[in-house]
Amino acid sequence: MLLASFSRVCTRRFHRTTTVFKKSPTDLKGRSKSSQEWLSRQLNDPYVKRAQMGNYRARSAFKLIEIDDKYAILRPGSVVIDCGAAPGAWTQVTVERINAEGKDASHSKGQVISVDLKYFQPINGAVIIDQSDFTLESTQKLIFEQMQKNQADVIISDMAPNASGMHAMDHENIMVLCQAAFGFAKQVLRNNGIFLCKLWEGGQSGKFKKDLAKTFKTVKIVKPDSSRKDSAEMFFLARGFHRTV
Ligand SMILES: C[S@@+](CC[C@H](N)C(=O)[O-])C[C@H]1O[C@@H](n2cnc3c(N)ncnc32)[C@H](O)[C@@H]1O
Repeated sequence: MLLASFSRVCTRRFHRTTTVFKKSPTDLKGRSKSSQEWLSRQLNDPYVKRAQMGNYRARSAFKLIEIDDKYAILRPGSVVIDCGAAPGAWTQVTVERINAEGKDASHSKGQVISVDLKYFQPINGAVIIDQSDFTLESTQKLIFEQMQKNQADVIISDMAPNASGMHAMDHENIMVLCQAAFGFAKQVLRNNGIFLCKLWEGGQSGKFKKDLAKTFKTVKIVKPDSSRKDSAEMFFLARGFHRTV
């Protein structure tokens, strides 16, 4: 209460700077410097707070929300495959936006199938395929078997390997995942379907964009505000799929 009125006064009289009000983590005993930095960043990240308030499992929810608000990729009734879905924030957003639980009787009910290497908690309205490697043919077969229609409207991939900090190697590893998602998209997307894929920028980005442009009408590079500025992360949004063979 006291703090709230103090900050109101400050806002009126002074420039309110993040330095003055920046929260510092307490009880840092035994933590490494990088873990202290991570904690401090989490504490001061507005998207972490918004994610908690919106009951999203991770701040990454806002990346998809921003992209969808701008490009309307998720529509009620759509079939969506969410690749690299754990802990499930993108799946939560998708369930809401495609009406996967059928809560809105005036629109058709969509389906989201969410896949990850890791175990993650179920999400109402979503089909979860966890502890499964998306790059394996057996996993992709499983996804296909779960699809209500035999085509998907949208493939979204936020898949990422564990980062080693070695830029070139991390880039190569994420490109393997991007290629796997693109390969699957080419098999299951309907005409005019949409593909959204995260990558870490590097030497193969340009070629990947060109390859996407051969099978999609438009390919855009998207960097939502909620994607950290200091991260090499970006998204390729490819729309208007057309089968080439
Ligand atoms: C940034 S997280 C995804 C966050 C998620 N979109 C969300 O909003 O909760 C990246 C995920 O990709 C997954 N991943 C990495 N390689 C994978 C693979 N070969 N198959 C499936 N998932 C993979 C990781 O396990 C990790 O959970």
